Amino acid sequence: MLEKIKRTAQFVADKVQFKPQVGIILGTGLGGLVEHIEVHASVDYSEIPDFPVSTVEGHRGRLIFGMLGGKRVVAMQGRFHYYEGYTPQQVVFPVRVMKFLGIETLFVSNASGGVNPTFRTGDLMVITDHINLIPNPLVGPNIKELGTRFPDMHHCYDPRLIELAGQVAARQGVELRYGVYVGGTGPTFETQAEYRYYLNIGGDAAGMSTTPEVIAARHMGLPVFGISIITNCGLSEEKGDHEDVQKQGARAEKKMTALFTELIAGM
Ligand code: HPA
Repeated sequence: MLEKIKRTAQFVADKVQFKPQVGIILGTGLGGLVEHIEVHASVDYSEIPDFPVSTVEGHRGRLIFGMLGGKRVVAMQGRFHYYEGYTPQQVVFPVRVMKFLGIETLFVSNASGGVNPTFRTGDLMVITDHINLIPNPLVGPNIKELGTRFPDMHHCYDPRLIELAGQVAARQGVELRYGVYVGGTGPTFETQAEYRYYLNIGGDAAGMSTTPEVIAARHMGLPVFGISIITNCGLSEEKGDHEDVQKQGARAEKKMTALFTELIAGM
C-alpha cells in the first residue's frame, strides 16, 4: 500500500511539477470553489494509475492544482464514498497521495442533513468534531510510515483554524454554526428514528462522507478544517422544497468558497 501511494504521488508530481501546501476535498455539488483557483494543472482521476475509478455520474473527478488565497493548493473535485462500494482504504487513498505530494493542511467540505433542530437549510456548519459510523480506514496492518497504530483523535479539527474561521466569517458578515458531524455509510438517508438517534448521541449534522478522509489525515498528522453545508433538516416534518434547497445550497457554497479562500490566505 505504501509503495502504491508513493508511486501514485510520484506519477502526479512528475506530471504537474507543482508542490501543493494545502489539500481541499470538495463535496459532491460543491465544486464551485475551483473557479477561484488560478489553475496551474489539472489531472483527471482516470489518468492516474491506481486511483480508484470514479463512479460519479455527470462530471469527471479530477485533481486541480493552482493558487488560491496566495497559497499552492490541490483540490479534489469529486470524492470517493464508501456507499459506492469502495473499500475504506480506497476512499482515503487520494488523501494519502496528497500528503505525499506535500500538503501540510487539509480542508474538507460536504453537504449534510441538519440534525440540530436550530439548524436551517443553507446554514454553514464548522465541523468541531465527528462521530464516525463508517468502517474505519485504519483497520488492518498499520503503515507506520504514515502514522501511529493508535492515533489520538482529540482536537481532530484544528482549534486554531476553527478560531481563525470565526474571525474571517465575522469580517465577511457570514453567520456560522458549529457542530458535530456524524458520518454514516448511506446510501439511504436516515429514518426519523435515526436522525433522533444522531441527535441523542451528540450529533448536529448527518452525512455519508468526510470521516474516513479526516481519520486518514489525522493518522498522518495533518491539521484539518471542515465545513458542512446543511441542505435539509432531518427532523423537520415538512418536505424540503427542492428548488429552494438548491438555491440555498448555491448561496451557501459561495459563502463557503469565500471563507475557505480567506482562511487559506490568512494561515
Ligand atoms: N443524511 C445523510 N447525508 C446527507 C443528508 C442527510 O440528511 N443530506 C445531505 N447529505
